[in-house]
Amino acid sequence: MTLRATVKGVGHYLPERVVPNSEFEKTLDTTDEWIRTRSGIERRHFAADGEYTSDLGAKAAQNALAMAGLEPDDIDAVIVATSTPDLTFPSAATMVQQKLGMTQGFAYDIQAVCAGFVYALANANGLILSGQAKRVLVIGAETFSRILDFTDRATCVLFGDGAGALILEAEEGDGTADDRGVLGLDLNSDGRYKDLLYVDGGMVSQQTGFIVMQGNALFRQAVEKLASTADSALAKAGLGHDDVDWIVPHQANIRIIQGTAKKLGVSMDKVVVTVQDHGNTSAASIPLALSVGVERGQIKRGDLIVTEAIGGGLAWGAVVVRW
Ligand code: UT7
Repeated sequence: MTLRATVKGVGHYLPERVVPNSEFEKTLDTTDEWIRTRSGIERRHFAADGEYTSDLGAKAAQNALAMAGLEPDDIDAVIVATSTPDLTFPSAATMVQQKLGMTQGFAYDIQAVCAGFVYALANANGLILSGQAKRVLVIGAETFSRILDFTDRATCVLFGDGAGALILEAEEGDGTADDRGVLGLDLNSDGRYKDLLYVDGGMVSQQTGFIVMQGNALFRQAVEKLASTADSALAKAGLGHDDVDWIVPHQANIRIIQGTAKKLGVSMDKVVVTVQDHGNTSAASIPLALSVGVERGQIKRGDLIVTEAIGGGLAWGAVVVRW
């Protein structure tokens, strides 16, 4: 018997306000057509005044708990992947813990920008396999609208707010690739690429700062690195491209999603795409897409899923999980 971290429930939450591309035409030298054709984005959600990352994360978590038929006190650990916590500290995760009414267990944030959810899944898997926790609530939650420079057309049209949550539970498997749960992992980072994507705030400026991105250079890195990390994670699980039921990629740009699927030799019919509705929600994009994929009836129990993401750092990685 082999211990596995298996999926118990998934859920998401999107802020009420939907911002269509046309809204940016009013203030910037841009068009709906440019945004759609260069990125695939049609609309995104922005959080309301007073609505923060922990609020979105807690709502996504409540939806995942409801799907799993669990109570907050059934959870041993809460991990929030985010680059936009409500405060510098304490963690968004302890705020989510408080909002859920959890008074036991432990909670902490993981910061690997757009790869944050993949890193958090790997971390949750480690907690479960090492016996530190039986049930882990893994959340990706972001309010990137708060770090957008609304005068920079090259970045502000690309990002959105939202949250997704997944509950992983310890379960015995047979130790084969037919087991449900996390089957393969691949994590990477390379700090030499810092200047491709960063926020110019923090202790250095003592302000929150704004996103700075070299979009084109990042684009070229993305397709290459996403395909190779997905390949490595599959190989570590003893699986190949033909075994994949769904790719659930980080949703930054439809052209990156298509380019990566092509490199992997997987048809776009097997890719969950939500970028048109959510924009790039950084660490929230994969759990949002997983939850929407289940809601749409695309992802079903037993399906083999590959998630892959890349972002600031650069940090990138992939997780193979049988749903
Ligand atoms: O989540 C982390 C990972 N993120 C990513 O991986 C993002 C990767 N990068 C991208 O998705 C794409 O590079 C972008 C969508 C950001 C940009 O697409 P692109 O095809 O790489 O365009 P570009 O940056 O080469 O810009 C092409 C032109 C430029 O004008 P010139 O220099 O050719 O005259 C830009 O100034 O498009 C211009 N441009 C815009 N035009 C209208 C940039 N932003 C806009 C805009 N509206 N919003």
